Amino acid sequence: MALKLELAPHPQTQVQSSYKRWKEGQGRGAGTLVSAVIPISISSTSTSTSTCTCTININKNFDNRTRTRHLLDSSISNSIANSSYSVNTRTRTRKMVKAVSLGDPLLAEDQDEAVVVPSDHLSQQALVPSLRDYLEMYKASIQDPGRFWSEIASQFHWERKWDPDHVFSHNLDVTKSQVHIQWFKGGITNISYNCLDRIVESGGGDKIALFWEANDPGSDASLTYKQLLSRVCQLSNYLKDIGVKKGDAVVVYLPMLMELPITMLACARIGAVHSVVFAGFSAESLAQRIIDCKPKLVITCNAVKRGSKIIHLKDIVDAALLLSAQTNVSVDRCLVFENEAAMKREPTKWQEGRDIWWQDVIPEYPTHCEVEWVDAEDPLFLLYTSGSTGKPKGVLHTTGGYMVYTAITFKYAFDYKPTDIYWCTADCGWITGHSYVTYGPLLNGASVVVFEGSPNYPDSGRCWDIVDKYKVTIFYTAPTLYVTRYSRKSLRILGSVGEPINPSAWRWFYNVVGDSRCPISDTWWQTETGGFMITPLPGAWPQKPGSATFPFFGVQPVIVDEKGVEIEGECSGYLCVKSSWPGAFRTLYGDHERYETTYFKPFPGYYFTGDGCRRDKDGYYWLTGRVDDVINVSGHRIGTAEVESALVSHPQCAEAAVVGVEHEVKGQAIYAFVTLVEGVPYTEDLRKSLILTVRKQIGAFAAPDKIHWAPGLPKTRSGKIMRRILRKIASRQLNELGDTSTLAEPNIVDQLIALADC
Ligand code: WTA
Repeated sequence: MALKLELAPHPQTQVQSSYKRWKEGQGRGAGTLVSAVIPISISSTSTSTSTCTCTININKNFDNRTRTRHLLDSSISNSIANSSYSVNTRTRTRKMVKAVSLGDPLLAEDQDEAVVVPSDHLSQQALVPSLRDYLEMYKASIQDPGRFWSEIASQFHWERKWDPDHVFSHNLDVTKSQVHIQWFKGGITNISYNCLDRIVESGGGDKIALFWEANDPGSDASLTYKQLLSRVCQLSNYLKDIGVKKGDAVVVYLPMLMELPITMLACARIGAVHSVVFAGFSAESLAQRIIDCKPKLVITCNAVKRGSKIIHLKDIVDAALLLSAQTNVSVDRCLVFENEAAMKREPTKWQEGRDIWWQDVIPEYPTHCEVEWVDAEDPLFLLYTSGSTGKPKGVLHTTGGYMVYTAITFKYAFDYKPTDIYWCTADCGWITGHSYVTYGPLLNGASVVVFEGSPNYPDSGRCWDIVDKYKVTIFYTAPTLYVTRYSRKSLRILGSVGEPINPSAWRWFYNVVGDSRCPISDTWWQTETGGFMITPLPGAWPQKPGSATFPFFGVQPVIVDEKGVEIEGECSGYLCVKSSWPGAFRTLYGDHERYETTYFKPFPGYYFTGDGCRRDKDGYYWLTGRVDDVINVSGHRIGTAEVESALVSHPQCAEAAVVGVEHEVKGQAIYAFVTLVEGVPYTEDLRKSLILTVRKQIGAFAAPDKIHWAPGLPKTRSGKIMRRILRKIASRQLNELGDTSTLAEPNIVDQLIALADC
């Protein structure tokens, strides 16, 4: 639909004195700062006219075009609320939007209502330069997904193309038949080839693929695309030699050494399915994952230095292999990288016949390895993630759709340019490290920083030190880091993931980290979605602090009420997705029924994300957190049931209920209510021992921050724990407990409150 924008002839102008004073106080107030309230009208070629009013701050050097574009953008975004992709001009709306141009700081008093509009400079060079361009592409992606995605997929190497008449097929409606999703079926490709050989063959062989920064400052390394390809081939050859075949699982328990992405790419090259387990998981958790996927081998290293601590990873693997052998899952081989910086090989415990040093065998193999061509729907990897029941779910991603989707989301959400230096702080043990440390950036031929250490070692300036050292231009992280004395001049784009970023954290990220000049891509997505689903595109539209903004191409988010009825326009409810997208997971490994039950049965016809969401009057999406029993701690997903089952395995724990509470740094913290076996006294030692049990069974990152002694738990008469009440007690919102009369024992609430600070 064609749109015509008319600027009203006499804008009403007023000086915003408090902002001006503030800005002059900062010593940077060169321009006269005014704000204008400008009525504009939009008329469509076919129907009625709607009018909206925008307030924007104007520097004296703002030109008319800038002003017009900003107005246009906020007007069109306004209309997105009424229809997910067509511009609906029937609705009459009036609104006030405060707009701060990228380059200007965002004031505290502005933060709830303001939008940050892209600067001209940013938009002019952006891949998607305006909201109008986005809308056109978005519309194309929804109206003819087969054509849209085929065009994008054609940018990659396929040994054989998919059937053009069957680019995708899916059924998301569990009431009709089995749920299934397929993209590019029959297309033959290899993701490792596309990440490496394709880049080398097109002349990018000497470009740095990976910059590696060690835990200890001063120690680093790098690999060009050509060198990375050689390393990957050597490992692939070894894997083939020991009999690993297409479809076999390989469990990887490595820290952020370069050997981790190398291993992923080597598995993918031969069609083996990698299952990376975050190297902070305990032996029990690792064993659980080994038992589930029965790998041909486990790849690990002897030890790792995390901050100033040395962790003996090989001991953890030994314990896990012992546990899995007890369940009759025995693994014949364990390839161990000697991580000399943490520990020499000599003290490492060794099982002859099973354990092999990486350095003793891999360098002997040829640096060329034929690619195993696979179907687009052949599995690429498994990644276990927490759900609302105790057993982790093996999320399965396949090759073709995931490849296309991670590559293209990376490119657009970070407005990637070949000169960029990109750093994502995530560990490859999580989905972010799969999609946006490894596959997405390498498919784009990017230079990626891989960091072994933690952001506050040796001090809290480490991150910014790394940004300055490598001249990082795109920095993608969880919104829980602090900034100090470094320049960060190189930064161009910031990205955030893992948890809702509240407006004040957003303002800090924007004003301080990005020095008010970097747009923030607040990317909402999940292990299951493979890639970004709702995310800003830098340069394309105004940003609202705290909102993930609009859907990526091909994604149709819907908000439903508890009956599964889609709600239009401004609303809150459960976030679902209508229709499939290429990066979607295809099943839960070995348990398709759980896949359907968890994700497709709650709201038939839709993929249910497990997240709550609000859509505002302008169509912006605001994620409000999980609505199921999953907690997000520093971007790590932990199921309450997993922590509860670890706690009740303690001999003195009779019952436990775990809830998430807000935490300034971690986003959410784990808060556990624990009922002890009768007669056992509350002691500090017992508290510590309970926490230790969780650390041992799941990993240190899942340790509860608080153990709250509970003589009993608030339950309904049917025995269901009322977590709503526990959440209120945990966050000390005692006036908001609501109706407690339906509890089997209402006085338990008072007892819990009395014990809150014990
Ligand atoms: C949450 C991580 C708000 C959300 C990529 C989701 C977010 C869960 C955001 C998935 C965001 C992720 N804003 N919440 N930008 N990104 N989440 O599977 O609750 O480890 O369901 O994937 O993290 O966590 P997962």
